[in-house]
Amino acid sequence: MPLVNAAEMLTKAKAGHYAVGQFNINNLEWTKAILMTAQELNSPVILGVSEGAGKYMAGYKTVVGMVNGMIEELNITVPVALHLDHGSYEGAKKCIEAGFSSIMFDGSHYPIEENIAKTKELVAICKEKGLSIEAEVGAIGGEEDGVIGKGECADPQECKQIADLGVTMLAAGIGNIHGKYPENWEGLSFETLDAVQKLTGAMPLVLHGGTGIPADMIKKAISLGVSKINVNTECQLAFQAATRKYIEEGKDLQGKGFDPRKLLAPGFEAIKATVKEKMELFGSVNKA
Ligand code: 13P
Repeated sequence: MPLVNAAEMLTKAKAGHYAVGQFNINNLEWTKAILMTAQELNSPVILGVSEGAGKYMAGYKTVVGMVNGMIEELNITVPVALHLDHGSYEGAKKCIEAGFSSIMFDGSHYPIEENIAKTKELVAICKEKGLSIEAEVGAIGGEEDGVIGKGECADPQECKQIADLGVTMLAAGIGNIHGKYPENWEGLSFETLDAVQKLTGAMPLVLHGGTGIPADMIKKAISLGVSKINVNTECQLAFQAATRKYIEEGKDLQGKGFDPRKLLAPGFEAIKATVKEKMELFGSVNKA
């Protein structure tokens, strides 16, 4: 199946009370591990690409070529959306050009009027070209691509203003943070989430910073309208731990253990296991 936008999979998720995972990709191994796991579990999936990761992978066109090639050659038949994560206005336009099927415009750092104006313009372009679009209100905390934010709670009225522009899905800050959660993290603000969902109705809500959120909080967030959950750091940590183990056990020094296809295999399997665990938790298995 060619790339799809995220609208249908998220509308179904919201109605069916589960969430679709957005897993960020960094390279070929990441992409292949996530696509293969989605296929094995018969789950829809969203591949997230941050602007930094896009640059690392030699640009958005390279990413589009790699993902489309894999979908065809690995016979991936589950719905896959290729989504720009935390895009700037310019980055969003580049991804639309390059062939992404979904974008996020993160205007959360602009004053609300400017966030609205820019989101509105991109909504019109995405509508015309058949892409889905995610907007953000209330900065997500933590560090992503060098931008550090403190987990804010979005203003539900502002969420409604942005939702009414015709975006496909909405990320609202509810005290969530990218990366590992600090010891003294206060947890998700379900009060904010509940207020946002009450005002935005059927709009699929997005939970960023999926790494390290306890399972009970994930389930509660889904019950309050979260239909897309972003996971990045957890796959990186799983890859790192498995790669470290391989090298610490001296396996790279045995036989052809230095071959990158062998060296990267444990990390690849670790990403697959992490994605599987998340898809099971989010309830997207067999929802393709
Ligand atoms: P984590 O890295 O905390 O999983 O967050 C991912 C994310 O929200 C990407 O937008």
